[in-house]
This record gives sequence, C-alpha cells and structure tokens, in this order.
Amino acid sequence: MVTVTPLETTLGARITEIKIPEMTNDEWTVVEAAFHEHGALVFPDQHLTDEEQSTFGERFGDIEMLRDGSQKAVAISNQKPDGTAMDAEETRFKTLRGNEGWHTDSSYMPLAAKVSILSAQVVPSSGGETELADMRAAYDALDEVTRERIADLAAYHSLYASQAKAGYTFKTGEGYGYHTKGAPLRPLVKVHPVTGRKSLFIGRHAYRIPGMPDDEAQALLDDLLDAACKPPRTYAHQWKAGDVMLWDNRCILHRACPYDYNEIRVMRHVRVAGEPESELVVTGPDEHADAFVPSTSNR
Ligand code: OGA
Ligand code: MN
Repeated sequence: MVTVTPLETTLGARITEIKIPEMTNDEWTVVEAAFHEHGALVFPDQHLTDEEQSTFGERFGDIEMLRDGSQKAVAISNQKPDGTAMDAEETRFKTLRGNEGWHTDSSYMPLAAKVSILSAQVVPSSGGETELADMRAAYDALDEVTRERIADLAAYHSLYASQAKAGYTFKTGEGYGYHTKGAPLRPLVKVHPVTGRKSLFIGRHAYRIPGMPDDEAQALLDDLLDAACKPPRTYAHQWKAGDVMLWDNRCILHRACPYDYNEIRVMRHVRVAGEPESELVVTGPDEHADAFVPSTSNR
C-alpha cells in the first residue's frame, strides 16, 4: 500500500510502495492529500518516461508550456547536443546557474506555477542536489513586528531582474520569461488557495516593493529570505537517476546546488500552471526591471 513518510524537516514526505504510471484514483487521493499537507513529495526510483511524467503532472492541472507550445517536459541540462558539457558563456548555462538562487517557478509570468515535477536522468558524481525551503513554516516563525510590517506589501517579480542581480544579463526577449515589461506584482504574504495557510512569497525574482526605496526593499527581501531558508525548514534532495521530486510553488522555494560543471547533469522538468483564480496577476506597463541592468554589461 502507498506509504507516506514525512521528512525530518517542516516540509516534504517520501512516497513509496507506488508506481506513478499505475497510480489508482485511491492512491492519487493519498498523494494529493500528502502534497497539501507536506508541500513537497519525493518518489524514489520511478524512472518515468517523458510522457509518464507529464501525465502525472496533468493530475495536478494544466501543464505550463515552457518553450514551444508542443513541449510538455523540458530538459534542465548542461549537456550540449554533441554530449559534452556547456561552457559558461552560454545563455542556457546562465539560466541553470540562476537556478542556484532560492526561487519559485514562473512568479515572473502573469500566471505563476502551481507544481514543478523534476526527475533525475543523469546525475553528477557529487553535488547537484535540489534544495527546498518551507515558506509556510518561515511565515509562522516571523515575529509580530515583521508580520505587521509586511502584511500589506507586495513585490514585483522578474526573471530579467533576478538574472541581472546575479550578474547575468540578456537581450530582451532572449528565452523564456526574459521580458522587461509587465512584471507581475505579488503580495509578500500568500494565502494558500487550498489549505488557507499563510506563507512568505519571496525569492530571487522578487525585486521591488511599491512605496519603498529600492535599497530598503532589496534589504528587506534579502533579510526575509536569509531568515526563511534555514533548518528545520530546508531539505536537500541528493538525486539518484530515476528519482522524482515535486513541490508546491505557492508555498515552497527551491534552488539547485552547484556541482562540477564539467560533469553532466540532466533533469527533466514538468511544470503545472497555477489556477488563474489564485495565481494570475494582471500586469501593467512597467519599466522597473530595466533599472537593474548595468548599462555596460547588456550583451
Ligand atoms: C527548475 C529548477 C533546480 C534543479 O527546474 O526550475 O530550479 O535542481 N531546478 O535543477
Ligand atoms: Mn526553478
């Protein structure tokens, strides 16, 4: 029978005694309840095909089309078509390195992500973990003064701005999500649409708070993030090929961990779009993201 074993942190559970492609509706009921309770699930040793992984994703909702409209699963990989590792100058490589900052997926798009499902295809000999952090527990741990301070604040989210902050700049429109206009404005305190639990909605893509000077806003966002992403609220998954891990982007942050970039690391990502009722933000004209691009390094 499907077994749910909570991880030794505030988030996450390991799900065993189940084969994802053969999941019954009764098993799905258990899995979905565990997802809402724990925010992240680890399924060791599943070895899913592309299609099995996206079919599983469809249990949660509509698949977010990442690069072209037909693709449901995307490779998160440093491998070039010729089999060798990408070099550091490639845009895709900078996107991968960008993933090493705590973030939530697609918060910079009008419709933010609900669930991300990663499966490990090729893993490096060491490093390359994926780390998760529980923003429900992080909110619970805030003192009353901070809770009051942030209660009505919101931040703009932009991949363009977050990559610029990390020292990676791009030509506008170069790749998924690299727009400089219309950054979505999202409240810092998010109420989960299903559980009603409050969580901190922050991460590297958050970059500006209306009504606050930029340096003060960035310092606040950095301080909140530093305090939030600490034990016992974090879990680092050490991948074995065939493992599947998913998380609820509405309340869990994640980041990739470094490894020897001469080695190959290939993950497969299926991203489930948020429900418009809770994850869609109407964006307006906005020049804010440009302000973070150092004028000399835009290449
Ligand atoms: C992602 C991501 C982390 C990793 O695919 O969105 O952030 O460990 N991946 O590869
Ligand atoms: Mn990500």
